This record gives sequence, structure tokens and C-alpha cells, in this order.
Amino acid sequence: MYGGSRIPRIPDIIGALWQTCGLQVGSKVADVCCGRGYSSVELALRGADVWALDFSKEFIANLDHASKALGLGIVTREGNAEELQPEDSVCTTMILWNSLGYNGPEADLKILANARASTHASGSLVVELATLEELSKEPHKVTERGIGESHTFRRIRNLNTQTGLLSADWAIFDEHGAPIRSGRFSQTVYPKAEVIRMMNAAGWSYVTDSDRVPLTCEPTGTLFIGMAESDSSSESCTKCRGVIP
Ligand SMILES: C[S@@+](CC[C@H](N)C(=O)[O-])C[C@H]1O[C@@H](n2cnc3c(N)ncnc32)[C@H](O)[C@@H]1O
Repeated sequence: MYGGSRIPRIPDIIGALWQTCGLQVGSKVADVCCGRGYSSVELALRGADVWALDFSKEFIANLDHASKALGLGIVTREGNAEELQPEDSVCTTMILWNSLGYNGPEADLKILANARASTHASGSLVVELATLEELSKEPHKVTERGIGESHTFRRIRNLNTQTGLLSADWAIFDEHGAPIRSGRFSQTVYPKAEVIRMMNAAGWSYVTDSDRVPLTCEPTGTLFIGMAESDSSSESCTKCRGVIP
């Protein structure tokens, strides 16, 4: 279900984050809630040592297939980001493309804290989330686009601007206009200040975001950048230069 206009932009987004997070060949990156792993593949192609996690068995199987075909050696896990973390700590954790908000604020706090526990001191966090401020500009939105083989994707999105509850119905239609797949999802959309508050509460220090310091890419939401402060339990890493201003 994920792709569309975002896929051609992945190299730009990952390129900008590669710079910002000071990544190098051999840096360890966790792609948490990786979906089909488009970002994981791009990171691994650049030489990162990628660990990727998602709930979805199907998405993880897709990523395993791509990783094997390209000889990338991405380590994948199927499971819950509230509980699972990389076996070895990482330089950067990325939670990209609106992957929080599915199970409420407590679950999101756990995901962020779990990520903090598995990221090096001075390592970084990137969270890409559409904010309530952004989505409230168009609370009811219909998106329609061609997705190849004469199929059309349509999503009808409704946002309650008071509660932040977003619900969306999507469907794929064949060349005759008949639906071949459909589904629905709901998600909590946070105000920008709440994302920053949750990052801080989970032990990250918020550094900046793409509204304040535009990056050379066009993200799907705001890109929040955080840093893991030093603590005695963390090791120092030679493959990570931290957030580059
Ligand atoms: C909108 S998709 C984004 C996928 C991916 N980050 C990307 O940029 O292509 C959200 C993904 O988050 C996953 N997800 C949501 N909550 C999760 C959790 N608690 N643990 C693991 N995966 C989760 C879903 O299965 C889905 O694949």
C-alpha cells in the first residue's frame, strides 16, 4: 500500500538524512516501522548496516526478498516496535513516514524510549510525522492517483481537528473501475509540540525539525531530529558523527 509518489523521493530523503545524521559507510541504522523497507534498501545501498523492524509479515518478506536480490544483508525482524530492539546498539534510529499514532500516545512513548535505549550516546533519531497543524489545513481530503497496470488508488481521509483522530478509507480499482482491494485505518495525529514533548519524555533531546531548518528533500511530514544525550551506559562509536548542524 505504500509507495506512489514517495518512492522516487526516497533517495533525496535518505540522502538528506545521511548528511544530517552524520552517517558513514558502516554506520548502524535502525529503520523502525520499516514497512516494505524502501528506506532500509536506500540506506543499505549507501553502505549502512541496517536493522529493520515491522509488524507486517508480508512487508518483512518483501524486504527480505529485495535485500537478498541486491545482496544487502539487511537484518529484518517481524514484531512490535514497543518491545523489540536491535541486538547491537545503533548510530541512528529512523521512524519514517507517519509510523506513529496507531496505538495511542503511551505506545508511541514506548517506541521512542525503546529506540533511545538502543541508540548510542550522541546518536540521532529521526521521526517523520505529519503534524496536526499541517493536516488541519485540509481535514477532509480525497487522494487519487494511477498506480500502474491501469489501476487507480483512492484514499478518503477525514481528520477530527479537535481530537487529532484521523480515519482513512482506501481502495484500489481495476481498469474498469471495479474495486480489487480496500481497507481502512485510523491514526492519532499529534500537534507539533506534542511530538517534541514525547521525544523529550523518552530521553531524546530535540535538536531541530524540517520546518525550522529546511532539508534538501521533500518529506511527507515534518522531519523531527533528536539526539541521544551521553550517559554512562553508552559506548562511543566511530561510525557516527551525530547530528550535523
Ligand atoms: C505508513 S507505514 C510507513 C512504512 C515505512 N516507515 C516507510 O517509510 O515506507 C507504517 C508502518 O508502521 C508499521 N507499524 C506501526 N506500528 C508498529 C509497531 N508498533 N511495531 C512495528 N511496526 C509498526 C506498520 O506495519 C506499517 O508498515
